[in-house]
Amino acid sequence: MTTGSQKTQADLTRDELAALYRIDEFESLAKSRLSEMAYAYFAGGSGRERTLTRNQEAWEAISVWYRVMVDVSSRSMATTLFNEPLRVPLLAAPTALHKMAHPEGECATRRACSTAGIGMVLSSLSTTSVEEVCAAATGPVYLQLYLGRDRGLLKELVLRAQNAGCVGFQLTVDSPIWGLRSREMRTGFRIPEGLEIANLKRPGAEVDRDHSGVGICSALGWTISPSVSWKDLEWLCEQTPLPVLAKGVCRADDALTALRAGARGIVVSNHGGRQLDGAPPTAEVLPRIAEAVAHRVPVIVDGGIRSGVDIFRALALGATAVQVGRPILWGLSVAGEAGVARVIEILAGDLDRTMALSGCPSVSAITRDLLGPGR
Ligand code: FNR
Ligand code: LAC
Repeated sequence: MTTGSQKTQADLTRDELAALYRIDEFESLAKSRLSEMAYAYFAGGSGRERTLTRNQEAWEAISVWYRVMVDVSSRSMATTLFNEPLRVPLLAAPTALHKMAHPEGECATRRACSTAGIGMVLSSLSTTSVEEVCAAATGPVYLQLYLGRDRGLLKELVLRAQNAGCVGFQLTVDSPIWGLRSREMRTGFRIPEGLEIANLKRPGAEVDRDHSGVGICSALGWTISPSVSWKDLEWLCEQTPLPVLAKGVCRADDALTALRAGARGIVVSNHGGRQLDGAPPTAEVLPRIAEAVAHRVPVIVDGGIRSGVDIFRALALGATAVQVGRPILWGLSVAGEAGVARVIEILAGDLDRTMALSGCPSVSAITRDLLGPGR
């Protein structure tokens, strides 16, 4: 077992990246370059990993009943999210510890998202501070938050994010405790030496404070709290004029409660199959939540999206935009910024092609009837 986060290998070259066409090719290359521990942390899910597997399968099971003979000579994937233009309805999902994938970490991810005109959601458990990430490029950055026990620390982080130029927040609501990820435990997951949780370090605290122990439950247990409830979402929404989205919602009734508590958007997510194993795949949940929310606020979805056809399926089921988690990490692992850029290029190129082949010149033309009768 390698204990560092990366074996020493140079980034893939532009020519090597250009010869990759699918996200799963990135995953196998990332696996061969990352330490066993880092790969296990990024790839793994909880329990028997059924939700992790079913997330991908559920998108793939949906057929696209394409429409023919529409003039698609001029096409646009552009959309807006909270008045921010996106060139593609896509965001990088918040994932922790990008410097475990590549030394340039979250700044490399941010630059790639910015150049591609997509959004980035920065994890509060990032290895680079929100200020540094915001300063690295232009374009919309959202900050993901966990509600830990220390409200003072959270309030301070919200203010820091606002001052740094973040455009909104995603409060993760699916994690009162951490799921059990056996791959993490078997490979002895620890925050690698030299990396820090840059946003949540208290002034005066030792860098290493409470980050020790095997598995995320020990290393990052203090960042979440089992006592969180809707009142805390209400509290958070009162702390900021920026939109707060509830991330990790799996039920229509919870989506509506989140809106009543002040959320201005919903992220349908099961944390990429890392929390409750046995949760339904997000492709099954999305249409119910989209219907309940009825276009009042944006609905974003993540979990198992691995192609432009998957993005198309999600938009047809009512999503305003989608997020991808692991694909970004695989791109980052193999070539830093250029790797993330190529992953986004593949996803965007595939969405554009799917739109052309199904008779959709614009995102607004991607409607539910394209998924066939009965959907
Ligand atoms: C995550 N996810 C996550 N979510 C969150 O709210 N805060 C976080 O810090 C993290 N960290 C994290 C690390 C890693 C390694 C993974 C794989 C995931 C969940 C993430 O935002 C998203 O919901 C899923 O990754 C989406 O599924 P896919 O695209 O990875 O299948
Ligand atoms: C994870 C946390 C950090 O899923 O959200 O690993």
